Amino acid sequence: MATTNVPTSFDSILNEERVFPPPKGFSRLAQIKSLAQYRKLYRESVQSPEKFWSRQAKAELVWFKPWTRTLKWEEPYSKWFIGGQLNVSYNCLDRHLGTARANKAALIWEGEPAAPGKPGEERILTYKQLHYEVCRFANVLKRNGIKPGDRVLIYLPMVPEAAISMLACARIGAVHSVVFGGFSAQSVADRIQDSQAKLVITADGGFRRGAVVPLKQNVDDALVLKDSHGELLTKTIEKVIVLRRTNNEVQFQEGRDLWWHSEVEKVDAHCPAEKMDSEAPLFILYTSGSTGKPKGILHTTGGYLLYAKLTSKYVFDLRDEDVYWCTADVGWVTGHSYVVYGPLANGATSLMYEGAPNFPEPDRFWRIVEKYGVTILYTAPTAIRTFMKWGVEWPQKHDLSSLRLLGTVGEPINPEAWMWYNEFIGGKRCPIVDTWWQTETGGILISPLPGATPTKPGSATLPFFGIVPEVVDDYGRPVPRNSGGKLVIRKPWPGMLRGLWGDPQRYQQVYWGEVEGSYFTGDGSRQDKDGYFWIVGRIDDVLNVAGHRIGTAEVESALVSHQKVAEAAVVGRPDAMKGQALVAFVTVKSGVHADAALREELRLHVAKEIGPVAKPDDIRFAEMLPKTRSGKIMRRLLKQIASGTEIKGDTTTLEDLGVLARLTQVEE
Ligand code: PRX
Repeated sequence: MATTNVPTSFDSILNEERVFPPPKGFSRLAQIKSLAQYRKLYRESVQSPEKFWSRQAKAELVWFKPWTRTLKWEEPYSKWFIGGQLNVSYNCLDRHLGTARANKAALIWEGEPAAPGKPGEERILTYKQLHYEVCRFANVLKRNGIKPGDRVLIYLPMVPEAAISMLACARIGAVHSVVFGGFSAQSVADRIQDSQAKLVITADGGFRRGAVVPLKQNVDDALVLKDSHGELLTKTIEKVIVLRRTNNEVQFQEGRDLWWHSEVEKVDAHCPAEKMDSEAPLFILYTSGSTGKPKGILHTTGGYLLYAKLTSKYVFDLRDEDVYWCTADVGWVTGHSYVVYGPLANGATSLMYEGAPNFPEPDRFWRIVEKYGVTILYTAPTAIRTFMKWGVEWPQKHDLSSLRLLGTVGEPINPEAWMWYNEFIGGKRCPIVDTWWQTETGGILISPLPGATPTKPGSATLPFFGIVPEVVDDYGRPVPRNSGGKLVIRKPWPGMLRGLWGDPQRYQQVYWGEVEGSYFTGDGSRQDKDGYFWIVGRIDDVLNVAGHRIGTAEVESALVSHQKVAEAAVVGRPDAMKGQALVAFVTVKSGVHADAALREELRLHVAKEIGPVAKPDDIRFAEMLPKTRSGKIMRRLLKQIASGTEIKGDTTTLEDLGVLARLTQVEE
């Protein structure tokens, strides 16, 4: 049973009482209009899941062949819509062509701008145009030997061709594995080796804050990397297709490397969508686990698409006139489910932005919202806190009145950031959906429905249809309301991962070996008196200080609520007296003097906000926190710095390695 030696409950001392009911005007027009309507559907979805999902699958997707069995569940493996055949790209593109959506914008793309005040490059692809591009590129893949089931690695910047590549793979039944453009050659090689990919799709380079990221060069380097025995890591790659984006010079290997633009000239745009089995693999996406080796999360066709589509429809309350912008990179699962598959399956307009939020100036996002009349904005708490730090003058320069709904994802949002987002971005009129989910879950599992669920700042609120989350103790027993514990999911759902690529044992052990009969999320949570879920973060971020278990997110939230603090990360370090001591890494707002007096002020502030037990033992001021390129704070590194141990493990995703060097020097 319990295989890891981690704290499993904590005193949840965050005391957030504010409640924000959905605005009446919003509810009136929403897909789900009231809490009662949500509860009724939810009850049905968990009491008769097969009936519920079968009805949804019929209503939402186009099937080439109907399924004969809705669900086969043999823990830890689920199969959905068995015997059914469909195609993901057909459901995202072809099905809209005979409708009024054919000439609607499917993708709006904004490139990274060259200079302050200059607009970025812009491309708009209608459903018809996107279909045309996808069909042509699918034929390029076929022409280069790609067959159903083959793995294709996609290593591209945030350009429309990233979505085109994914959809082209789906169209011919190839399995894509997108690798985030910020990953190194080593990561590319590891992923090729693990997935045994046959083909790589990349670009000459990608733009990042005016510089060029040498993607093709990284692929070249990856393809010659060797393991410790001198063996080539990657032996399976036959072709590399290169998109011209930055025009920097690249090396070409005769016979292996091909230009995208030359290849598409050789094919036509007739490419019928392959009839895929509902359980055929759709993609593998690598994500970090508690050990060094990334896990290849496997998602399949029918269940994943249905779940991505349905969650997009209800959580974002998508309407035909929306301009929907999810700021995630396609290299992450959010980019898969909520930039590409979910929105397109719903016939929505999905906006993609290539660049950074502060390039060339910190108002980049708000310029884009104004320019395209964005109605739904879905971004990460870390971005919101950064915007707070940059100051309200940047959003205030722009007209944000088109926005009607805001979302967050990726980490717990501290109530202060939630309130700021609500006031300065949403103009106090937009509901906020705090969406909790994981790469493994395929789509959102816990979130408000914006027209139905009253929100509380910092809570992801209630489960989506068919999802049965529970907070349990070490023995898998439900804990009382307001007690902390492990967050598990009790029943299978269509979007759940189907395993780890090539590693069934690890799949069983990591997700199903912890709490009997349940999927273990790795997160800690509590449920309040109303049944709302408050996700505290990864269980290993929960500390035990002098017998009190404290969620680091709560201490961070308290620190960030101080007016002088921009961002904070709290980790534990071993302490002979207390078991663990709390170490806080803090960045301050511009113009603030970080000194011993402020340190004391902050300790007192935390004591006031939470209680003396949560007072950080150490506060270290830092210029920046070390983050992965997706914006997650690298707590593992901070823990090593906090406890003075040598820094080990993979730092290839670190945004700025210099941060590390500076942090290790801040000790006084
Ligand atoms: O700890 C939770 C946190 O992010 C983890 C999943 O990370 P990843 O697989 O990279 O997927 C991120 C995008 C879905 C979770 O185990 N997390 C994600 N969303 C939230 C969150 N924590 C709190 N609140 C959220 N809304």
